[in-house]
Amino acid sequence: MTADLERAALRAYHERGEEADRLTRTGAGRLEFDRTQEIVLRHLPPPPATIADVGGGPGRYAIWLAGLGYRVVHRDIVPMHVDQARAAAAAAGVAVEAAVGDARSLDLDDQTVDAVLLLGPPYHLPLRADRVRALREARRILRPGGPVFGAVISRWAARLDELLRKRIYASNPAAVPMIDEVERGRLLPALGPGGFFGVAHRPAQVRGEFTAAGLTVADLVCVEGAGYLLGDLDDRMADQRDWRVVLDAARAVERVPELLGIGSHLIATGMRR
Ligand SMILES: C[S@@+](CC[C@H](N)C(=O)[O-])C[C@H]1O[C@@H](n2cnc3c(N)ncnc32)[C@H](O)[C@@H]1O
Repeated sequence: MTADLERAALRAYHERGEEADRLTRTGAGRLEFDRTQEIVLRHLPPPPATIADVGGGPGRYAIWLAGLGYRVVHRDIVPMHVDQARAAAAAAGVAVEAAVGDARSLDLDDQTVDAVLLLGPPYHLPLRADRVRALREARRILRPGGPVFGAVISRWAARLDELLRKRIYASNPAAVPMIDEVERGRLLPALGPGGFFGVAHRPAQVRGEFTAAGLTVADLVCVEGAGYLLGDLDDRMADQRDWRVVLDAARAVERVPELLGIGSHLIATGMRR
C-alpha cells in the first residue's frame, strides 16, 4: 500500500467518526477499554509521571490517565482526533497536551517520558519497517526502565469478529475469501466502504517487532479473551456480576499460549532497559 493510499484509507475509516465513543458504546468496546486499563496499570510508574499517548485518537486513555494525576502528552496523525481529544479533555476538566504527530517521527525529546502508549499505530502501519520505526521512536523518548504498551489486532480477529460475530458474509460476501488471505499474512483490507484496515499480527510477530526496536518484551497478553463473541455482551455489561465473569474469563486465559490470538487485540509491554 502506498503512503497516499494508506493516508486515504486511514482518513476514510476515521471520518466515519466511530472512534469518539468506540470504547464506551458497546460491550465489546467496554471490554477492550476495561481490560486495557488494567493491563497498562500493571506496569505504570505512579503519578505524577509523564505519559505519551501516541496514536491517542479522541483521547479516551489520555483523559483517563490525566484524571489519575499523570502529565499526558497526546499525539495523533489525524487532526480531527487531536481536536476531539482537546475538546474532550477540556470538557472533563483535565490537562492533556495534544498535537498532530506521526508515531514514526515524534517532536518529543529523548528520554523525556516515563511510559508510552502505542494503542493504534502498530496495526495501522502496513510496513514492518514503519512499525519498528514507531517502536524505536517510543524507545527514544522513554527514560530507561520505562514501558511501551503496544496494541495489535489478532491475526484471527477478522474471522472471529467480522465473520462469526458480525456476519459480514451477509452484507459483503466478497470479504469472505479476503479473510483467508489475511490469515496467510496479507494486510487486513477495509472489508466495507470506510472499513477498518490494518495489520493482523501473530503473537510471535509482535515479539519480533518489539525486539527489533531494542525493547525487551516483559509481557504479552490477550486483551478480550473470548468474551467479545458473546451475543448478549451488551446486556451483560449492565449487570455487575455478569460483567465480572466476563472480565475474569479474559484474565484467566490472557497468557495461555494457545489462546493469545483469540481476542481481537493483544497488548505487548516492552521495556527500555
Ligand atoms: C483505532 S484508533 C485507537 C485510538 C486510541 N489509542 C484507542 O485505543 O482508543 C488508532 C489511532 O492511531 C492513529 N494513528 C494511526 N497511524 C498513526 C501514526 N503513524 N502516527 C500517529 N497516530 C497514528 C489513528 O489516527 C487513530 O487515532
